[in-house]
Amino acid sequence: MSSFKAVILAAGQGTRMKSKVPKVLHKIIDKPMVDYVIDESIAAGASDICVIVGHQSAMVKAMIGDRVKFGLQAEQLGTGHAVMQAGEFLNGDEDILVLCGDTPLIKGETLKKLAEMHSAEGNSVTVVSMLLDEPTGYGRIIRSGDKFDKIVEQKDASDEEKACKEVNTGVYIFKSAALVSAFDKLTNNNAQGEYYLTDTLEIIKNDGGKVGIMQAEDETEFLGINSKLQLGEATRVMKRRINDFHMLNGVTLQDPENTYIGKDVKIGSDTLILPGCYIEGKTEIGSDCIIGPNSRITSSTVRNCVTVQNSTMIDAYIDNYTTVGPYAYLRPNSKVGEHVRIGDFVEIKNSTIDDGTKVSHLTYVGDSDVGKCVNFGCGTVTVNYDGKNKFRCKIGDNVFIGCNTNLVAPVEVGASAYTAAGSTITKDIPENSLAIARSRQENKEGWRIKTGK
Ligand code: UD1
Ligand code: CA
Repeated sequence: MSSFKAVILAAGQGTRMKSKVPKVLHKIIDKPMVDYVIDESIAAGASDICVIVGHQSAMVKAMIGDRVKFGLQAEQLGTGHAVMQAGEFLNGDEDILVLCGDTPLIKGETLKKLAEMHSAEGNSVTVVSMLLDEPTGYGRIIRSGDKFDKIVEQKDASDEEKACKEVNTGVYIFKSAALVSAFDKLTNNNAQGEYYLTDTLEIIKNDGGKVGIMQAEDETEFLGINSKLQLGEATRVMKRRINDFHMLNGVTLQDPENTYIGKDVKIGSDTLILPGCYIEGKTEIGSDCIIGPNSRITSSTVRNCVTVQNSTMIDAYIDNYTTVGPYAYLRPNSKVGEHVRIGDFVEIKNSTIDDGTKVSHLTYVGDSDVGKCVNFGCGTVTVNYDGKNKFRCKIGDNVFIGCNTNLVAPVEVGASAYTAAGSTITKDIPENSLAIARSRQENKEGWRIKTGK
């Protein structure tokens, strides 16, 4: 197979999405649809990628980032015109794979097969076609005998051509020189007044180039997203593909229809995912965990034998045998050790919690470093923010924090120290001490009788 680069068309607005957001940025589970197309092109072996942007180009470029090159199509004058905007990118020996940013279900293996067939047959261009019972809207592949003749768009087709059920998927691979020289002859003399990329195939054929057709095995891969309805359909297909992959890998999904897992998530075998989970980003979950029901895990690492119940975590790290929830919230940069218990209504942010510590109920730990086997009483608050700056708390091993303690940062609690319930701690506590920081109780005996209340 000769090497190839990819051009991805993403300049259109997507009017039918009825949205402020450009079409290709709408998400399938956790990633914009154009990201899937980029990932699959890379998986197929594309050595370089140029995304053609136009409508709200700044937003599209910012979202995609710097892993691709960009071409700008300021005015949308057609798919052929769009590819031309790749400019210099088209020069060189490598073949040019062309596909659309709004077909997120395309598979890398199919693109690879296309590139292999293109090179094995020595074609100047190879197009992927599919057979549809209801071909309306698509460009029709017109053959003469077995061979490619031309592609006719719906709006330009005669009644006889409209009856043709073999359609253009919009995925092609070109010899770069054939494509570039076809552009010189491309016109917009058609019903839509656009420069159609599809016309380059007929031009190449007329110039003596060989045009190949690869019939798609699975039409769902070429589902183009034009509306929120189709976005929902594509989400269902993608969800099923991803969930099937994990189940075949030994992950138990109790209700796959009601479990959302992002494409880049990794999960170990014998982990049980209960209904209502949303697991996204670059999350890694180990083996033998129980996740859910109803948990959201974003870009986090969860090691083995961890239980997470009805909780949310973002950018967090949870070590082996730890339990989280119900109703816990682990915010970015929370690093939690082994055999830790993070209980109900506990929030952790930008903190390390070492092995064996228990934060069981109604507690906020922010900007803190907590040692091993610490016990937090119910209702502890690290007071980390003075309205302007954030400060850290340091809590040594085996500390016992009494219920309803405020730890006003910056403050350090020495190893094995105690705080009395209801204390507001503002000074460091030496190790092995008891800190009491509340007013003493006074009992006024007979007060009720004396005051007559
Ligand atoms: C195109 C094909 C049609 C094929 C269908 C498959 C042409 C002329 N027709 O039709 O044969 O069956 O795809 O889905 O190519 N785009 C730009 N700039 C433009 C125009 C389009 O970037 O000036 C992008 C769009 O954002 C979209 C893609 O190209 O991602 C396809 O364009 P669209 O207008 O949807 O083409 P179709 O009419 O669907
Ligand atoms: Ca389309």
